Amino acid sequence: MITKTSQALQSQQIVLSSRPDGVPTKDNFSLATAELSPIGNGEILVRNQWMSVDPYMRGRMKASDSYVPAFEIDKALEGGCIGEVVESNNKHFQVGDQVLGNLGWRELWKSDGKGVQKLDPELAPIQTYLGALGMTGLTAWVGLKRIAKLRSGSRVFVSAASGAVGSMVCQIAKANDCKVIGSAGTDEKIKWLKEKAGVDAVINYKTTDNLTEELGKLAPEGIDVYFDNVGSDHLEAAIDHMNDFGCIVCCGMISTYNATQPPSAPRNLFKIIGKRLRMQGFIVRDHTDDFDSFIKDISPLIKTGKIVWEETVTDGLENAPDAFIGLFEGDNLGKSLVKIHSENGSK
Ligand SMILES: NC(=O)c1ccc[n+]([C@@H]2O[C@H](COP(=O)([O-])OP(=O)(O)OC[C@H]3O[C@@H](n4cnc5c(N)ncnc54)[C@H](OP(=O)(O)O)[C@@H]3O)[C@@H](O)[C@H]2O)c1
Repeated sequence: MITKTSQALQSQQIVLSSRPDGVPTKDNFSLATAELSPIGNGEILVRNQWMSVDPYMRGRMKASDSYVPAFEIDKALEGGCIGEVVESNNKHFQVGDQVLGNLGWRELWKSDGKGVQKLDPELAPIQTYLGALGMTGLTAWVGLKRIAKLRSGSRVFVSAASGAVGSMVCQIAKANDCKVIGSAGTDEKIKWLKEKAGVDAVINYKTTDNLTEELGKLAPEGIDVYFDNVGSDHLEAAIDHMNDFGCIVCCGMISTYNATQPPSAPRNLFKIIGKRLRMQGFIVRDHTDDFDSFIKDISPLIKTGKIVWEETVTDGLENAPDAFIGLFEGDNLGKSLVKIHSENGSK
């Protein structure tokens, strides 16, 4: 509910009420009401329509800063969001513009416009700028093109293959004539990866007794690129089957984000030496300059249907914690998004 008075605006937001210990629970979050003063000179007021939930947010829920500052207790969470400008005192923004910002987890936000990107709603459904055409799509592209320096014909293994990043990695690699093996946690995801994303083979890691053995069966000629979204046992299995001079792209290690003990795998890191592997981590925010190259590269693939995507949409700001927690339970196929409604209606 958004209420406007002459003094202040009221807007609902999700705050971090306590830091998760292990897997986050709904008790770690609460819905609160914030008051916003009217916009000043040069400012805009944005009403959010969509927000993103992302695994990296779990790192920000810890007390210590990582490459991004920790979230503060009893303060609203933050993250990628798309909204409509509803008031503007800034000549660069008109009422009705749709914009990308970083103040998700709330209904309304004010800004001086710095870092706020105007979006083209004609190019794709607006929420795509939080997924395939946004941060997670760029992550996939940077990991393959800039970090792995992907070559046509390579053999690529992708973990969390049906997620926002993984599903794009699989399809970009396929479009570059690579053989792609994925891993995912449900039969529905495996079906999608084979039938819609064109992936050559997929492991259901939840029903496989021995991931390393299963990967060996599906990749008898070895792996040239491992795109790691999961870490631990997936990383161990990949190292065992990497070809000499291969590359491990360390994008994320979601299996460790809620861990209260150090991971028991990988136990075979020493093989990196004998196989002369390159293992490189990256953070997508260091590569924002690549955004235009990424769009130029994937636009034709989207137009010709070589790249498709899925969204898992959770309705209502109040349910955003469920969407976030669901990332660690494998609830999402493709990009996990929250649709934010308001009394004035969201598009
Ligand atoms: N380096 C960067 O700049 C950057 C940027 C964006 C994302 N990332 C990383 O990329 C990875 C994917 O992010 P995303 O946004 O695309 O999320 P996502 O893959 O859309 O969602 C997370 C998925 O991970 C899988 N998963 C969860 N817990 C797991 C576990 N313990 N073991 C194996 N799989 C598990 C689940 O699918 P299943 O059903 O298959 O288990 C879940 O659906 C994350 O590690 C994230 O931190 C890094």
